[in-house]
Amino acid sequence: MGSGSAIARKAAPVTDREETAIREGAWLEELCARNSGIWKNLRQCGGQKRAHLSERVTSVHADALQWMRDAPGSSVHAVVTDPPYGLIEYQEKNHSKLKAGKGGVWRLPPSWDGAKRQPLPRFTVLTGSDHNALAAFFGELAEETMRTLVPGGHVFIASNPLLSTVVFHVFQKAGFEKRGEVIRLVQTLRGGDRPKGSEHEFSGVTVMPRSGWEPWGVFRKRFTGTVAGNLRKWGTGGLRRVSENEPFRDVIMCSPTRGPERKIAPHPSLKPQRFMRQIVRAALPLGEGIVCDPFSGGASTLAAAESAGYMAIGTERDPDYFALGCAAFPGLSGL
Ligand SMILES: C[S@@+](CC[C@H](N)C(=O)[O-])C[C@H]1O[C@@H](n2cnc3c(N)ncnc32)[C@H](O)[C@@H]1O
Repeated sequence: MGSGSAIARKAAPVTDREETAIREGAWLEELCARNSGIWKNLRQCGGQKRAHLSERVTSVHADALQWMRDAPGSSVHAVVTDPPYGLIEYQEKNHSKLKAGKGGVWRLPPSWDGAKRQPLPRFTVLTGSDHNALAAFFGELAEETMRTLVPGGHVFIASNPLLSTVVFHVFQKAGFEKRGEVIRLVQTLRGGDRPKGSEHEFSGVTVMPRSGWEPWGVFRKRFTGTVAGNLRKWGTGGLRRVSENEPFRDVIMCSPTRGPERKIAPHPSLKPQRFMRQIVRAALPLGEGIVCDPFSGGASTLAAAESAGYMAIGTERDPDYFALGCAAFPGLSGL
């Protein structure tokens, strides 16, 4: 389907046949049939280049917002994404410095125990106008996400303690219900430093807290009626339990991505499978539907979806990371 096609943008309404199937209790078969129809259309939508990584997972080389504008309305059941938190770190001028090993907005942590550490973007350098640009970008993302999601669909969006208030606020402004935050407990190298250049003089001072958590905003597209009714109609509205006896919980302890995963997918912001598999699984309450990651990077969300048996589509703008994610997908999903 070509970019900007009117057919692609058309929302898929619930048909009379589907309404009847809901009344007669055959709603699950109908839902699955409907979703496979949507999937065939969606995986051909927008972008210059795409890779069908498996029967149920596709990666598209495209700008996220552009792809979402082309995508059909009400075609995605969950968005699970780890966007460029501060926007500027993945902008060409800053990102090319990282690729050249020069730093810039990317801080290259010192190697003090022989172990090489991952570069970290410095969000304290963001100016007032960077914050405005951030709010505008995430505002547009929230609007497109609202259009693309089916009613009751959930969004899990990663952020950072310094920026999450801006990002989460614009999602609420776009009309999403905030349903909570998932806190990933993770030891980071952010903060905790003494005043630069005066470390000895102020040896008892920490400029800002050493961060030990990562917030993921959890939002839901509003719907009318009950959760049960929405589950039958769209397969969404709630979260998948961990097991019969255990609900999905909002604090997840998970150490940084290390070793083998980084070798498979050497992306500077790679999220660990152990964590991604828990949130991606939870995002589809009936285990049925399509997950979208607009900023797919090293393909950690797509790999987690594959391992859960879900359909998933991701977009990545950077050609090198698009290729990296495609190459990493079999290794990550097979872990
Ligand atoms: C934080 S990283 C995602 C990392 C990913 N979660 C993983 O585990 O590998 C954000 C990604 O979004 C990509 N990106 C930034 N702006 C984009 C845009 N407008 N459209 C699509 N991708 C974009 C960046 O190139 C980067 O790979």
